[in-house]
Amino acid sequence: MDAADGLAYRAPTGTGVDGLFREAAVAARQAYCPYSGVHVGAAVQLQGGQVFAGCNVENSSYPVGTCAERDAIAAAMLGRDVPDNALVTLVLVAYRKGGEEPIECSPCGACRQAIVEQNPHAVIHFLGRDLVLRSNTASELLPESFHL
Ligand code: THU
Repeated sequence: MDAADGLAYRAPTGTGVDGLFREAAVAARQAYCPYSGVHVGAAVQLQGGQVFAGCNVENSSYPVGTCAERDAIAAAMLGRDVPDNALVTLVLVAYRKGGEEPIECSPCGACRQAIVEQNPHAVIHFLGRDLVLRSNTASELLPESFHL
């Protein structure tokens, strides 16, 4: 994927995970978001290097809709070549339908719980308030997460 593919999303620089931002932005294009108009894309990288992506898939029965992060995790579970390969990095991007200007998108609480389940040390990159890049571990974003 390069400029010739028409990807307008401008990812933050200096993260060291440019490829994941690109994958997440490509995934966000595929979002099914007729209700919110917010395209969300997530890309996860596993310890062995494999990358998987997901997008939000909304539903007229709103709670049935899914988030990009959990869809990416599901794709990783299905596609990973080594079952022990932990999720090490997750990148989240979002923009409004009709443009690809980055907007704030902090992972929701349910997705934080889902990421912690995979690896509390996984690093999550997203644009927080005022479009400031945030890079935190899953356990930093969800301290005292639920465990059985
Ligand atoms: N959304 C995600 O995909 N991930 C999050 O962590 C927060 C919210 C989606 C769900 C819904 O389709 C849209 O963003 C607006 O809430």
